[in-house]
Formats: sequence, structure tokens, C-alpha cells
Amino acid sequence: MKGIVLAAGAGTRLYPASQPISKILLSIYDKPMIYYPLSTLMLAGIRDILIITNEKDYDNFKKLLGDGSQFGINIEYKIQFVQRGIADAFIIAEDFIGNDDVALILGDNIFHGHGFSTIMQNAIRNNTGATVFGYTVKDPERFGVVEFDADKNVLSIEEKPAHPKSNYAVTGLYFYDNRVCSLAKQLKPSARGELEITDLNKKYLELKELKVEILGRGFAWLDTGTHDSMLQASNFVQSMELNKGVKIACLEEIALNQGFITADELIKQISKYGNNDYYNYVRDVIKHQQLLCFN
Ligand code: DAU
Repeated sequence: MKGIVLAAGAGTRLYPASQPISKILLSIYDKPMIYYPLSTLMLAGIRDILIITNEKDYDNFKKLLGDGSQFGINIEYKIQFVQRGIADAFIIAEDFIGNDDVALILGDNIFHGHGFSTIMQNAIRNNTGATVFGYTVKDPERFGVVEFDADKNVLSIEEKPAHPKSNYAVTGLYFYDNRVCSLAKQLKPSARGELEITDLNKKYLELKELKVEILGRGFAWLDTGTHDSMLQASNFVQSMELNKGVKIACLEEIALNQGFITADELIKQISKYGNNDYYNYVRDVIKHQQLLCFN
């Protein structure tokens, strides 16, 4: 399975903060926002990743993440020149996807919860068409909303409905089979002129191949689209990290744990970085792993 991070938004809602640089490169507590969605794809076991950026920020994303070797993954980049909608990602990424299945995550979505890695890996294994994740929210009208029957079968899915039929928002993480590119090409722009991800999911629903996995109370899902939600997300990450003494979305740690990179390779990769909190943490993680190997 391949992965896409969609990070091409103009971020005008966050101006002037996001005027010189994409909001997806702004910090959520101690690391750039894009580390969080990237960590999600890595935890799902995905190593071939395409980052879709806007034209202005293309070089900045490359400067930050390079070819991915520091994290034991392969990163490619493509530009979305015009914001044609989330489902446009599958038209832009058609060559990258090739004959594979694909996961898409929105660059401003943060997921955190025990066992999420296993949940995603099971979703990938059992996916026969599309699998998306539902999460209860108090303001469903801001999201894609899914309606279930009493047996939790999906009845409908609507984008930002004025009168939501449930409190279940569809999160910005989607798994699709290889038909996704041809289905995306059949979509027509919505009233707001976008190829809607919800219309794509409706196509899978019509085919009876849309699964919605519910993320329960133990999960945190944060859509960091506003200053308030960015601050909330930073506070959440800070409190988790300070309480537990471990970092959320440390890509090097995930790469090491997933076996994407060896300790020796990682030491070489990070040797150029000086003394700072993030890389000192990575050095401690490496030392800890080496001690475990010797004992
Ligand atoms: O966060 C989950 C929600 O994401 C879903 O519940 C909705 O169904 C889905 O439409 C989407 O809603 P948003 O209102 O959050 O979408 P937004 O237009 O803000 O775009 C989400 C991210 O994707 C944002 O960082 C910008 C980026 N983006 C968006 C579009 C339309 C692109 O990179 N290119 C695009 O063309």
C-alpha cells in the first residue's frame, strides 16, 4: 500500500501566520504539523509516500523531509497547482499509485490513541473497497457526516450538512483500493467547485464497498484548521509528552520501532544535527534500543 499526505492548502484562514509558509509546516508544540500525519502513515506500515504541496511551499517541504531516508521511507513530491478538492489527490497521484492500493491523510489531521497502528493494519488487510474512520464530534456540520442503521451499517454520507443525521464525523484518513483513481476521474465539481472526498466515498457506498470503522473514546482526533485547534493540539501533545516522557510523532523513533531503519543508519542520518531537545530525544531512543540489543 502507498500513502499520500495532502498538504497543498493555501491556509488563508491562518493568515498572516501562514502567509510566508504553509500551515502544515507550522509547529504543533515541538515539531512541524506534517510530522503527525506522516507518523500515522508510518504506523500503518506504509513506506512509499507522496506529499502533495502547493507550488509556493514545494521547496520548503523538500528542505524539511528530503527523500525520507532519515526516516527509512521513500518520499516523493507533487504540486497541486489549483485547489480542485481533496479527491483531486488521486488524479495528481495516479502514476505514483500505479497498481497499488493507497491511503490518503490530510496534512492537518492528528490522530493519537492506543493500538491505532493495529487498527490501521487490520483496516488495510480487510479493505475491499474503501475504509474510513468515524469519530463523534459536537459540531458535525463542519465535516463529512456518516449515518448508520441500528446494526452500524452505513446508510448515508454527506459533506457539511446543515442538518447532520448523526454526530459521526468522517476523519481525514482514508484507505482505498486501486479503483480510486478511475472513480475520482468520474467526479464532477461540487457547488463550491471542488472534487469532494465525500462524493468519492459515496461512489464506494453505492458499490456497497464503503466500510466505516469507529474510533472510540480512547482516541484523540484533531483537525488543526484554526488557531484555536492548533493551540489545543499543541497543548494536548505537550501534556502527553511531559506526562509520559515520550514523544508523539517522532518519525525517527517510529522508523526504528517499525524496522524501517537500523540504529547505525539513524546515527549517521542525524549526526549533522546539534544539541537540541528533539534530536537528543532521538539519541536517547537509539541508546535505549542498543542497550536492549546487548542485554
Ligand atoms: O478533517 C476531516 C474533514 O476534511 C472531512 O470530514 C471532510 O469530509 C473533508 O471534506 C475535509 O473537510 P475540511 O473542511 O477540513 O477540508 P478543507 O477544505 O479544510 O481541506 C482539508 C485539508 O486539505 C487542508 O489542509 C487543505 C488541504 N487541501 C484541501 C483542498 C480542498 C488541499 O491540499 N487541496 C485541496 O484542493
